Amino acid sequence: MVGGGEGAFIGAVHRIAGRLDDCYELVAASLSGNAQRAAASAAGLRLDPARSYADYQAMARVEAARADGIDAVAIVTPNYLHAPMATAFLEAGIHVICDKPLAISLAEGEALAALARRQNKVFALTHVYAGYPMVRHARAMVAAGEIGEVRLVQVEYAQDWLAEAANQSEEFQRNNWHNDPRRAGPNGCLGDIGSHAHHLAGYVSGIQPDQVLAELHAFTPNRVLDDHVQVMLRYPNGARGMLWSSQMATGCENGLRLRVFGTKASLSFDQENPNELWLTPQGGCAQRLTRGRVRSAAAVSATRVPSGHPEGYLEAFAQLYRDAAAQIHALDAGQTVPQSARDMPDVDDGVAGLRFMQAVMESHRQGSRWLKFA
Ligand SMILES: NC(=O)c1ccc[n+]([C@@H]2O[C@H](COP(=O)([O-])OP(=O)(O)OC[C@H]3O[C@@H](n4cnc5c(N)ncnc54)[C@H](O)[C@@H]3O)[C@@H](O)[C@H]2O)c1
Repeated sequence: MVGGGEGAFIGAVHRIAGRLDDCYELVAASLSGNAQRAAASAAGLRLDPARSYADYQAMARVEAARADGIDAVAIVTPNYLHAPMATAFLEAGIHVICDKPLAISLAEGEALAALARRQNKVFALTHVYAGYPMVRHARAMVAAGEIGEVRLVQVEYAQDWLAEAANQSEEFQRNNWHNDPRRAGPNGCLGDIGSHAHHLAGYVSGIQPDQVLAELHAFTPNRVLDDHVQVMLRYPNGARGMLWSSQMATGCENGLRLRVFGTKASLSFDQENPNELWLTPQGGCAQRLTRGRVRSAAAVSATRVPSGHPEGYLEAFAQLYRDAAAQIHALDAGQTVPQSARDMPDVDDGVAGLRFMQAVMESHRQGSRWLKFA
């Protein structure tokens, strides 16, 4: 693991996810770029001090040279480090599991995708919501034509954590990396959660917008980057859509919601109730589909406990780790990747996300006009 030291958020979630299905063992890490903090964090996890590094480049080099060196690395650092770190590990011949957004520019992301292909390594991108069984079921239903041709895609990702008084302070804006273009990249809310909304919409609907009309906005005083995004979408098949994401949506905890409307029926998924999916046929009544009962291959292969027992965020994260492990085993053994492990978001999804974000920023810059980008 690189990043995820004491006090960090997502690293601990990755560690749980990696252990949940007994596919991984954490044996080496660069938990912080600061030597003292890296060592203290490694001691807290009872890691072998000889395999705790303060410098990720040294870690890639030394681990690649060891007979028992790491097979894969999890990159859980602020955004600006994803591309240089992934590059170092791919060049050392190590598979990569990286958090989103893939990089801080489209050029960086494209270079990373080309390198992963050249090195023939697995590159998992942890758009975690793609790990939910009911999201996979929805994706399979759309792909099988069960809702007809997709006509409308409506996705929203609403949070309110930035609206907390402490997070509105000048000090927070000055010190927090989410508001620092050098470390977060050229956008705030768009990359933090808009990137998830974009990925989820494409993952389930099976279509990608080719035109956007976008506005980025900051409600927070003194904030350099956006804390709110609204985008209208046009798709090559004539479908229309809307994406909005906000970290200033009062009262919303983690409100990621997707609705996909086809010519025969619509689907509705709410991340805060991930064990269910609503299907409403044209002219018919809404049906509540549940994780334990749908029994599709897509849902069954992404589930762990019996019908009626809730699963959630940690299992969704673990699913991506399980998919990545299956891909790594298959690739290293020269075998075909099993169908059940192919739904994992990868480096190409990251590039598509960066292309979308670039278009959103450009449309905003040009006074929120329609922009064709694909
Ligand atoms: N997939 C998701 O649902 C999800 C959720 C939250 C965050 N994220 C992403 O995860 C990443 C990390 O976010 P976070 O909230 O955990 O951030 P954080 O600030 O809580 O943690 C970042 C960690 O990276 C470490 N770090 C910084 N520079 C380093 C270096 N040079 N070498 C080694 N470690 C270094 C820090 O010490 C810290 O431990 C971000 O890219 C974010 O977008 C994804």
